[in-house]
Amino acid sequence: MSKNSLGLKINGKDYTLDADPNMPVLWAIRDIVGLTGTKFGCGAGLCGACTVHVDGQPQRACLTSLKQVQGKQVTTIEGLTFEPLKRAWREHNVPQCGYCQAGQLMSAAALLTQTAQPTERQIDEAMAGNLCRCGTYTRIKAAIQTASGQKVSQTDARSESEQEAQA
Ligand code: FES
Ligand code: FES
Repeated sequence: MSKNSLGLKINGKDYTLDADPNMPVLWAIRDIVGLTGTKFGCGAGLCGACTVHVDGQPQRACLTSLKQVQGKQVTTIEGLTFEPLKRAWREHNVPQCGYCQAGQLMSAAALLTQTAQPTERQIDEAMAGNLCRCGTYTRIKAAIQTASGQKVSQTDARSESEQEAQA
């Protein structure tokens, strides 16, 4: 593995890494820089757990190499500043085990940045690549609808009962 000195901008901060240009950004973020909010799931672009933003666009960090992000801005879950979305996530008690949630939030934030009031279909399409083994999909959709100021089209038993308990 040949190493180079590479610049990387993450969450507005500049890093210089001694790393192979072909190294996946995911490894650099987690193992070199130490930002572990972004998760490794499949390593093959299939689960969305590793989703980050590159110049504002959602990308799979497991399939994106360091050389592909030279001169670009990488944003991870630690740098996500989308308060209405985070608030809605809490309001709907979205996470269960939590493992997929950083990727879910990054995809949802990218969607709402591009489309302020997405339809259900647009939400489904934008979130289709983010898998959740705990099945939090209904709450994810509800949180996205709440964050965008829309009426929630469906709720599930867990979020309803938890909201009642908190009332
Ligand atoms: S770990 Fe990158 S898509 Fe699954
Ligand atoms: S909350 Fe457990 S995998 Fe999504």
